Amino acid sequence: MLTLNQHPTGRHFLQIPGPSPVPDRILRALSLPTIDHRGPEFGALGLSVIEGLKQVFKTQHPVAIYPASGTGAWEAALANTMSPGDLVLMVETGQFAALWQKMAQRLGLQTEFLAEPGTCPETGLPLGWRHGVNAAAIEQRLRQDAGHRIKAVCVVHNETSTGVTSDIAAVRRAIDAAQHPALLMVDTISGLASADYRHDEWGVDVAISGSQKGLMLPPGISFNALSPRALAAGKGARLPRSFWAWDEIVEMNKGGYWPYTPSTNLLYGLHESLQMLLEQGLDAVFARHQRWAAGVRAAVRAWGLPIQCADAAVYSPVLTGVVTPPGVDADALRKLIHERFDLSLGTGLGKVKGRMFRIGHLGDSNDLTLVATVAGCEMGLKLAGVKLAGSGVAAIMDHFAEHRN
Ligand SMILES: Cc1ncc(COP(=O)(O)O)c(C=O)c1O
Repeated sequence: MLTLNQHPTGRHFLQIPGPSPVPDRILRALSLPTIDHRGPEFGALGLSVIEGLKQVFKTQHPVAIYPASGTGAWEAALANTMSPGDLVLMVETGQFAALWQKMAQRLGLQTEFLAEPGTCPETGLPLGWRHGVNAAAIEQRLRQDAGHRIKAVCVVHNETSTGVTSDIAAVRRAIDAAQHPALLMVDTISGLASADYRHDEWGVDVAISGSQKGLMLPPGISFNALSPRALAAGKGARLPRSFWAWDEIVEMNKGGYWPYTPSTNLLYGLHESLQMLLEQGLDAVFARHQRWAAGVRAAVRAWGLPIQCADAAVYSPVLTGVVTPPGVDADALRKLIHERFDLSLGTGLGKVKGRMFRIGHLGDSNDLTLVATVAGCEMGLKLAGVKLAGSGVAAIMDHFAEHRN
């Protein structure tokens, strides 16, 4: 038996912003016997998970499910709608936006990457990595594009590398105000089922999501929620695609089946996850994440450390980025905390590597696991010699005691 955990007792604290801790109910569902993916029982399962996903995405239109991580669903979104050389407008909100942009280039698309210039005097971090998407800048750029060369606007809903969300409804308003026909594509890989997301109401054409965040599943399946405009764009799009092609998937999904072997056991887990989320009600799920996030932010403020998100209007309900003081290597701190307290925290990615760490507050968590997470961070910070302004543990306990769900 492979032993990954040097701590012999208790559960590991997996407080990274995905994969998130998986609830026991879902673990049990995953362990059911695998069935024939062409048989009648499977068809019923397929139809049920597609229907449940539509409720979570808040859409009436098809949702494609892939046996792939979120990166695959990113590729599917572009490959199904774009032609070689098409121009896509993307916004540098962090590392995931940067990776999606790199992928678009590798697929043979032209990209324009809007970035907020400058660095933050307080933290030294790139300013764009502390804010959400600037919808006015998108509108301005689209207005200049009189010939409609831009075929898609691609934005990240919840930037998992920074802990900053973006106002997707404002991006749709910007596209409409510019009277531009570009498709709106939204990465809500770490937003869905934790942060408010409304596919049809916000006029999103393709949404991309994954299993291992708010849906509380292991990694391995991902999604494209579509709009009629996206499906129509797919008919004329010339980028090569086969495995990712929506047409065959959408057709076979009508009976609850797939053109190839789907991830049967992960779909059992998805079925359970959807039941849990819809039993609780999405509004309650979103409120729970907001409350957890506010508690964690109260702790970070009590320590006297900067929260990476510099705009209170777009704090992430899913994770909080904590900037370490100059000279304190955030990865060395994470290593110390992992070794001493069996607590995993998210690393700083790309341009902010070593300068910050990320606390995930999603998945199978509760008040006490988050108080313990803050305690692990606080002990680690003290052991690393960081002078703290006050106790984050006291602050998060007070917050949770004073604010009921
Ligand atoms: C916002 C965002 N986009 C894309 C990805 C890439 O997804 P995956 O690692 O599942 O391929 C992630 C993964 O964490 C993410 O958080």
